[in-house]
Amino acid sequence: MNQNSEKTSTVAKGLKGIQAADSSICLVNGQEGRLLYRGYNIDELARKCSFGEVAYLLFQGELPNRDQFQQFEATLTELRKLPAPVLEFVKSSPTDVHPMAVLRSAVSVAGLYDPLAEDESAEANYQKSIRLTSLIPTIVAAIHRVRQGEDPIEPHPSLSHAGNFLYMMNGREPSADEAKAMDLILILHAEHGFNASTFAGRVIIATLTDIYSAVTGAIGALKGKLHGGANTEVLKTLMKIDSVDGVEPWVKEVRANKGKFMGFGHAVYQTEDPRAKHLKELSGRLATEKNEPKWYEMSVEMESLVTAAINKNCNVDFYSAGLQHYMGIPGELFTCIFAASRIVGWCAHILEQLADNKIIRPKANYVGYAERPVPDMDAR
Ligand SMILES: CC(C)(COP(=O)(O)OP(=O)(O)OC[C@H]1O[C@@H](n2cnc3c(N)ncnc32)[C@H](O)[C@@H]1OP(=O)(O)O)[C@@H](O)C(=O)NCCC(=O)NCCS
Repeated sequence: MNQNSEKTSTVAKGLKGIQAADSSICLVNGQEGRLLYRGYNIDELARKCSFGEVAYLLFQGELPNRDQFQQFEATLTELRKLPAPVLEFVKSSPTDVHPMAVLRSAVSVAGLYDPLAEDESAEANYQKSIRLTSLIPTIVAAIHRVRQGEDPIEPHPSLSHAGNFLYMMNGREPSADEAKAMDLILILHAEHGFNASTFAGRVIIATLTDIYSAVTGAIGALKGKLHGGANTEVLKTLMKIDSVDGVEPWVKEVRANKGKFMGFGHAVYQTEDPRAKHLKELSGRLATEKNEPKWYEMSVEMESLVTAAINKNCNVDFYSAGLQHYMGIPGELFTCIFAASRIVGWCAHILEQLADNKIIRPKANYVGYAERPVPDMDAR
């Protein structure tokens, strides 16, 4: 190729390390393994708060007092039921496609039936953020039921956000530990700075389009193998190995083939992923409660052997695999569960972007042809 003489600079591939905007939502400290939502350490939030409180915090910047929390939970409950056309869409979707593809399209359909969809006021955008936070678990549960050949279940008005999510998926009220586990999964996945799906959402909303367009795009980004979904692979591996004794030979085989250990390593954390220990602890508790220790024991063995082999800690996806399996959630649905949590982070960033908007339009470092004449058709 005739190289362009106008090439002027180098690029930061994947924008790695580039600070693209100010944000006050979340601090991800990769050196220390620290994750703060609005200044609060997730270790403390995980111990003391519910997902509803964390969602309110991420949206509003402060934790809710009792009245604010009750009102927020009441609004979530009120908005949970799917509009009939969205339910019909999910019911009529093919069951052999990726569940994230159905979720992406269902959210887009939900936008068609929201009278506030094109209302650009800050109040309407906040209402839509809460509505999406409430609706997505209902959509995900309906997708799951339809894939199992069962009818979707209506939301249970007196269960918590997390408890109701499990109820709508499994058709029975969850145990306290199961509901706590889902609550924790939702808290820990709710926000993580300028990850690919969140940044995609910010890029889309920065054109001043509607929130449904931005969230639909974010779901599409999360669907990719390099972003959501490593925990699906972890579960597949656990299922394939199927015994504690099988872990060591498997680790040796992956090492010998220079393979990747899914659920280990992280692009930002150089040390322990601060979310992993919470999921490990809960996975152990559910293993005991279900009297099915195998998946947890295999995971502990794998963590120990892989960490020793490659000197990388496990990440959020590792223990969430066995944990969600104990909760009766199939591996193919894990990325949808992630979306049901990350919707809060996406919307918080969308609202933050809109509050001080500038269209996001980076520059390409052009490396193509220098200007050249268009040859006649016969001369090409
Ligand atoms: C998350 C991930 C993409 C980060 O990649 P990264 O930013 O390149 O990570 P690092 O810079 O720490 O990698 C340094 C080296 O360790 C290797 N490494 C990192 N994670 C590894 C893993 N899980 N298994 C085996 N080797 C790994 C890399 O291949 C790299 O070696 P190379 O340069 O010789 O190829 C990577 O760790 C990975 O693919 N993990 C598995 C998938 C996963 O669990 N994703 C969920 C993340 S929350």
